[in-house]
Amino acid sequence: MLVLNKSKSMYNSKIIGLGYYVPDNVVTNDDLSKIMDTNDAWIQERTGIQQRHWIPEGSEDTSAVMGAKAARIAIKRAGLTAKDIDFIVFATLSPDYFFPGCGVQIQDMLEMDTVGAIDIRNQCSGFVYAISTADQYIKTGMYKNVLVIGAEFHSNGLDKTTRGRGVSIIFGDGAGAAVLTREEDTSKGILSTHLHSQGKYADKLIVASPSIRNWVPELLANPEDISYFPYMDGQFVFKNAIVRFSEVIKEGLDKNNLSVTDIDMLIPHQANLRIAQFIQRKFGLRDDQVFNNIMTFGNTTAASIIIALTEAWEKGKIKENDTVVLAAFGSGFTWGSVIIKW
Ligand code: COA
Repeated sequence: MLVLNKSKSMYNSKIIGLGYYVPDNVVTNDDLSKIMDTNDAWIQERTGIQQRHWIPEGSEDTSAVMGAKAARIAIKRAGLTAKDIDFIVFATLSPDYFFPGCGVQIQDMLEMDTVGAIDIRNQCSGFVYAISTADQYIKTGMYKNVLVIGAEFHSNGLDKTTRGRGVSIIFGDGAGAAVLTREEDTSKGILSTHLHSQGKYADKLIVASPSIRNWVPELLANPEDISYFPYMDGQFVFKNAIVRFSEVIKEGLDKNNLSVTDIDMLIPHQANLRIAQFIQRKFGLRDDQVFNNIMTFGNTTAASIIIALTEAWEKGKIKENDTVVLAAFGSGFTWGSVIIKW
């Protein structure tokens, strides 16, 4: 009879390389007030955002191109080469093509072996879902080094008129990448991941078209139909976000017998500074226990957590043995958390 020695066949995964890339082009709130009826005070008061990076016209950047730029940095910092990567997980809601996904473009752009690649479509929770997916492959021993990317090219898909101001002021372009590798010590690395969804509220934050049931000819025939722009019921999203963020952080802590005081660094998805501040207050966390950078990058959806994690790490805010918590909520609705012993 085959007896599986669980402790020998299961691993943890750990992050050994981080990188991010954003386009140089900075768009301030004042810049936006020149193209729509908005102002710096309104945007800062409601969201905390001061500026975002938007890909300028004529740039070569796309979600895949930015993802490749971030990935090169992460792989180098991991002390690996692209040839060492066994699998690619790419999270985005703004892929270069309807199909194929961005993951396969990374395989080509980085001149990797013909390794597998998948795209994750979980919007603001995309990076948490992507990390969780990579973690499972490593845990089972199937792959050793997995490249995880989150990237978004929002700016070309936003309604940049007053009509779209409730949504378009929030989003920014950018990409981040992490290299995960096998960790034999199961008390370290990614301890657990927690994922949820609630499709009932799909229409509360959605880009409904073009879709196969409302394809381009139908859209062109109906100029009133602007369902190709993101729609968001902002207040409904806000209310659900604060509840789900809290629940899923608590779920992750409980699972690992940790308490709020054990958190060395919480990196919430950068949806809105007011959401992050609410969570911080609710858990009674000090300023040095939470990292936010939505002020300078806006909400970069699947890229936001990985850009923030990279920036926090670059600034020396994450150290060996720290308990790091990642948490996200977004369209779907989807939400999740990741508990890491760094
Ligand atoms: N500039 C100026 N005024 C604006 C504006 C802008 N960019 N956008 C909306 N307004 C106006 C509205 O037209 C409305 O005016 P009215 O009262 O005359 O009708 C007023 O401001 C309030 O609009 P409302 O949509 O109720 O604002 P809000 O307080 O809910 O703030 C969000 C809007 C989007 C900032 C907020 O709901 C939010 O952050 N929600 C969560 C979104 C989120 O996190 N999304 C990411 C998904 S994870």
